[in-house]
Amino acid sequence: MEEMHLSRSAAELVDRLERTGDLSDGEFADILTCGEPGFVEYLAERARAVRERAYGKEVYLRGLIEFTNICRNDCKYCGIRRGNKHVERYRLTEEEILSCGDIGRKLGFRTIVLQGGEDPYFTDERMVSIVRKLRERHPDCAITLSIGEREKESYQRLFDAGADRYLLRHETADREHYAMLHPKEMSFDHRMRCLRDLREIGYQVGCGMMVGSPYQTLSHLVKDLRFLREFRPEMVGIGPFIPHHETEFADQPAGSVEMTLRLLSVIRLLLPDVLLPATTALGTADPFGREKGLLAGANVIMPNLSPTNVRGKYLLYDHKICTGDEAAECIRCMTLRVAKTGYQVVESRGDHARRRAENP
Ligand code: 5AD
Ligand code: FES
Repeated sequence: MEEMHLSRSAAELVDRLERTGDLSDGEFADILTCGEPGFVEYLAERARAVRERAYGKEVYLRGLIEFTNICRNDCKYCGIRRGNKHVERYRLTEEEILSCGDIGRKLGFRTIVLQGGEDPYFTDERMVSIVRKLRERHPDCAITLSIGEREKESYQRLFDAGADRYLLRHETADREHYAMLHPKEMSFDHRMRCLRDLREIGYQVGCGMMVGSPYQTLSHLVKDLRFLREFRPEMVGIGPFIPHHETEFADQPAGSVEMTLRLLSVIRLLLPDVLLPATTALGTADPFGREKGLLAGANVIMPNLSPTNVRGKYLLYDHKICTGDEAAECIRCMTLRVAKTGYQVVESRGDHARRRAENP
């Protein structure tokens, strides 16, 4: 319906985005800023149609185990950066991680995500042991790792041990912007190298960026979209930047929910069968952020599966939601919330369409 109010040029732009993804930088920027009434709704409607062609009404859950908040890095935006002395640090034992996995499997998760800071304690040997045991106990589950930058050989060993997927946000596709968000010792080239290594090894790879991170410009976001179009990741995690009070970005403004929703729709149109989470950051920035995300083209939710006694210690940003809720409660809550959007949580590995044949 909104289409009737939309100028022909705006509708034509969305159409071309969907058909070819081949837009100029200026046209991508137009889509991200178009203020015509009804435009954002139209974009979301088209994104939903594309998402439904690829995945129907299904929403996939990922059980997120935040197994260590110890990190050797000092990313300027992140609450658990090394330099933050006010964090109570923890790491789960192998037994605790495995028991979280068991609980998750019983609750209906078919993807277990192990996420943590870059904690040197978790050497290849220790990670391989955990992945191998998870793989043995839950042969019908996908195992996703989100443990930062490592060397290719290490990624290969973890893959051989049974990991299927890897999440490593690129954070920004612009080298100078990357340098503004990270300390000198972190390298844009190494991060990009890691993503290509993961891809070469055979992981389903997820990258992504924060929306509205400090110093981010429209042209940085356009660059991110170009990078996504070229790299064609299986997953894209995006969420608004939210300041953390113990970082040098404490007084920076939070990223925009509306821009995040627009980007979700654009990414869906650009990569029709991408796995796209409505992130916890989006749910933190807006009480209905995750629902809005699903209605803008997202098809994945990542509820927290960490033991409740560590939940409040894995704070990358302020006011994070669900830090007091049991995993079972989050599943119940999300199943209801998802149903209200007209979509449906399903108990499935939720592999990327390109990779489904490998894991029937
Ligand atoms: N606000 C929003 N997202 C953040 N992340 C880290 N810190 C913040 C923050 N302050 C994101 C990064 C990282 C992912 C795990 O969380 O993109 O890759
Ligand atoms: Fe955690 Fe709603 S998703 S309480």
